[in-house]
Amino acid sequence: PVTGSGTGDGMAFTPVAPNTQDALVVPDGYEQSVVIRWGDPVMPGAPAFDFAAQTPQAQEMQFGFNNDFAGLIAIDGEPNNFYLVCNQEYTTEEFMFTGYKKLDPTENQARVSMAAHGITVVEVTSESGSGKLTPLVGQRNRRITASTPFTLTGPAAGSEFVKTTADPAGTTVLGTIANCSGGLTPWGTMLSGEENYNNYFSNADKVTDPAAKEGLDRYSFADDADYHVWGRYESRFDLARDPNEANRFGYVVEVNPHDPTSTPIKHSSLGRLKHESANIFVTSDGTVVAYTGDDERFEYIYKFVSSKKITPGNGASAMRNNLRILEVGTLYVARLTGEAPDQIDGSGKLPTDGKFAGKGTWIPLLTVNDDGSSESKIAGMTAAQVAVFTRTAADKAGATKMDRPEDIEPHPKTGKVYCALTNNTKRGTDGEAGADEANPRNENKNGQIIEFTDDHAGTEFTWELLLVCGDPAEADTYYGGFDKTKVSPISCPDNVAFDPHGNLWISTDGNALKSNDGLFAVALDGENRGETKQFLTVPRGAETCGPIITEDRVIVCVQHPGEEDEYSADKPYSNWPDGGSSQPRPSVVAVWKTGGKIGV
Ligand code: FEO
Ligand code: CA
Ligand code: CA
Ligand code: CA
Repeated sequence: PVTGSGTGDGMAFTPVAPNTQDALVVPDGYEQSVVIRWGDPVMPGAPAFDFAAQTPQAQEMQFGFNNDFAGLIAIDGEPNNFYLVCNQEYTTEEFMFTGYKKLDPTENQARVSMAAHGITVVEVTSESGSGKLTPLVGQRNRRITASTPFTLTGPAAGSEFVKTTADPAGTTVLGTIANCSGGLTPWGTMLSGEENYNNYFSNADKVTDPAAKEGLDRYSFADDADYHVWGRYESRFDLARDPNEANRFGYVVEVNPHDPTSTPIKHSSLGRLKHESANIFVTSDGTVVAYTGDDERFEYIYKFVSSKKITPGNGASAMRNNLRILEVGTLYVARLTGEAPDQIDGSGKLPTDGKFAGKGTWIPLLTVNDDGSSESKIAGMTAAQVAVFTRTAADKAGATKMDRPEDIEPHPKTGKVYCALTNNTKRGTDGEAGADEANPRNENKNGQIIEFTDDHAGTEFTWELLLVCGDPAEADTYYGGFDKTKVSPISCPDNVAFDPHGNLWISTDGNALKSNDGLFAVALDGENRGETKQFLTVPRGAETCGPIITEDRVIVCVQHPGEEDEYSADKPYSNWPDGGSSQPRPSVVAVWKTGGKIGV
């Protein structure tokens, strides 16, 4: 539980300096161990990982590739054990197979790749006196892949836009893919965002129906976006045969790890976009508010406000009710205005009042009623169209184009909402939207963190930039007003989380400052607001994801170690975590303080 407002208490560690080591570097006095890595057994009977002879059958029972979001979910009555839930976002085939030919997978390679996607639920057990976590292979675990059946809910379900040859009812979708970040719900489930699914469908350019074509274009489907080439072996990924299959991905999915036989859900009431994540705030009357961002340049920030109230408790009937909360309510998109529009010139120079700040409005797009009926709030679009082509609805609503909204998460104590805007090098170029106060730099390479003070169930908010990232020696950066000579440099924020003291932790992807990506703690409240300290760095070419911060341990996902220019299994740039001349393996890592609590 988060008990503080984030004054910087709990950030007492020596910051890790920027570096380019092929290692996970932690502060002095901290230890680390790999919890689980690509290919490790998850399901009973899973074979040991064999890099040279990987099969789809083995991969379906093993930990998948490129772990992104991670969450720990308590198990009732078993205080030392947790469900570790983890997204397996995408595959980098060049790392998975020696001699891989780009855009030309064998059937075995394509099917290993499908099985390496999705979500893993794996029980882990802790050891007293250390932060180490050990996975337990067993029937409680689960691998969800690109082939697992999901139930589609909300206005998209059964609509003409999602019916396919294999599913004429338009209610059962096979698989989840491109699962980036996510969140945990108060009722004990995991939410996961389907993000870059446009990279999995072939023949987008052969679709001729104008409406279908427009829908594909608005979500960046194109022949050259598909680098997995699954359509060669599975026709549903070939848009020339089944263009509607594209409309069955791009949702927030919900998984109940307490029941490994449960059918996971795709929630279309939260819209279809490139969801980075979804994270929940519960208001004092039990209204559930889910925040979600659309991660592509110039895309939008959304929230869903439930009209049902949360059912307290963790029994079976509470779970049944709560699993339906994200179906009924209103979906909104954010429009932001700045306080000093005349002072924004795209350089990142602070307005004279010393901050980038302003107001905003949530514009309704869609309401789903208790009886399952739904109403579009956008002229010329049906409710089903708004649920499936949500970007188009938000365009019509006049939403504010942001610098790639990544993870967004409400602070459990203060209720303020933090969103990472990772970068946008196209801002202000070639006829694209120029800088505004919330996205104050053109050709933005380093990103920013925005803080919303939201009337959660209402439609008004104020906002302020907490960080404008980049080299603190540069004039176009801002660290919450804190002394910039005393901060760790941060660039390209991606995932956000909170520690038990209420400080914000940020993991990065794509550090534009020529050092490895890392994990940072940032104070939010009081005189240290904006203090930023790097807690760890990940190995060469990797992105830092996951993160989970508890009293006892920090967990990070190390995604795509070694992913540098011209990477391949034939000449790996990273040998992490197994060392020697081994292939790099995406892994989940636990870090803890020897004989103590994190940051204390
Ligand atoms: Fe998969 Fe938006 O990062
Ligand atoms: Ca991300
Ligand atoms: Ca998060
Ligand atoms: Ca990312």
